[in-house]
Amino acid sequence: MARIDEITDGIHRICTTLDAGGRPFQFNQFLIVDERPALIHTGMHGMYEDVRAAVAEVVDPGKLAYVILLHFESDECGGMDRFLEGAPHSVLACSALSNILNLSGWNFAGRVEGHLDGEVIDLGRHKLRFLETPHVHHWDSMMLFDETTRSLFPSDLFIQAGDQPPVVTENLGPEMCGFYRDVGIFAHEEPVRRVVDRVESLDPAWVHGMHGGSLPREAFPYFTRALREERFAYEGKLLGRPLEQPA
Ligand SMILES: [Fe+2]
Ligand SMILES: [Fe+2]
Repeated sequence: MARIDEITDGIHRICTTLDAGGRPFQFNQFLIVDERPALIHTGMHGMYEDVRAAVAEVVDPGKLAYVILLHFESDECGGMDRFLEGAPHSVLACSALSNILNLSGWNFAGRVEGHLDGEVIDLGRHKLRFLETPHVHHWDSMMLFDETTRSLFPSDLFIQAGDQPPVVTENLGPEMCGFYRDVGIFAHEEPVRRVVDRVESLDPAWVHGMHGGSLPREAFPYFTRALREERFAYEGKLLGRPLEQPA
């Protein structure tokens, strides 16, 4: 079952904790309640009914105006077709690259709009600004920044494995870097550190990641510091599995 908690002013975290190789791991979606409600990430295909039920505790899922994916991966968008079908006035919003690379050239026929860095979606009170963040961790990756609550939605950056509370205040930065080294989601530290500088300069009051709890302002430096000081890029492991490297 998915649980839903309002973290701050209209931003609700929908969280499902699953078993990932013997360890709990969380998948979050964020519902922004406003004149034009938005759902950021949909969860995987099999999570659709639970996520929809959680949305329905707060707003009619048929009234969603935006379904937003931050890069093309099943935990971002596995439920996109059914959320769009169920909300006739909704549109799928993503980065321009997600649209060009991953939503064109095959049989996807849904309503979609691709956005460039700096563009803003106006939900009413909340305004979502697009940040293009290539290679953090995909070519098409982007993040969102809500100007109203100073909330950053960084997708898979600032991850915390395990069963976390809705709001995390402890220093899990070094553990995050160890997790990244183990799963191998970043090719290199450099593009990630550039984005860390950029998002830090936005002075976010909240960071709502896809995996783990939301970080309030006081906990954010634990994670930015770890990303600056520790290694976290790919070093031969994929999802914990060492790869045989050619000599
Ligand atoms: Fe991802
Ligand atoms: Fe993810």
